[in-house]
Amino acid sequence: MSEAQLPQLERILFTEEQIRERIREVAAEISEQYRDKDLKLIGVLKGSVFFLTALAREITIPVKIDFLAISSFSNRGAAPGMVRIAKDLDESIEGEDILLVEDIVDTGFTARYLLQTLAGRGPNSLAICTLLDRTPCRIVQVPVAFRCFEIPDRFVIGFGLDYRQLYRNLGYIAVLKT
Ligand code: IMP
Ligand code: MG
Repeated sequence: MSEAQLPQLERILFTEEQIRERIREVAAEISEQYRDKDLKLIGVLKGSVFFLTALAREITIPVKIDFLAISSFSNRGAAPGMVRIAKDLDESIEGEDILLVEDIVDTGFTARYLLQTLAGRGPNSLAICTLLDRTPCRIVQVPVAFRCFEIPDRFVIGFGLDYRQLYRNLGYIAVLKT
């Protein structure tokens, strides 16, 4: 969808151009740090799909890709911290250098659960790369190796992030009207 602002939006936080530029910078850091490694990007469905593909296109070293899906009850409301894998990876990660690609790290419950689960499968290394980092809302500490943007405590949509499964296809990131 285009930059034309929807009436449901309060304001645009990051434009398509800002996102593209920042992803390019982070991809350059990753390409440098993983130069001699066996890099695999793991996307968390569905939110991280848009970010993962944009990031992968800017990475200049060979890269593998896999996806998993989670059922999360930590999405504001119900009992926090309840996460389980709804669709697992297709392939083993043993001995590989894994970057877990997230749309947003909020409370940290999802990221912590995934880090713990994947660590048990014998990767050579394991780190997080997130599009958005909402540090004011963190409940459990997780190491975030790469982040594109820090955001304030407001619900955001676009570039993969949804509100009731809508708005993922916006090219920008915006604050939803409350
Ligand atoms: P955490 O487990 O609290 O860190 O939550 C992470 C998940 O909550 C993300 O992967 C998103 O699916 C969802 N989420 C958290 N904040 C937002 C938001 O502002 N917009 C859309 N989804 C969000
Ligand atoms: Mg998500």
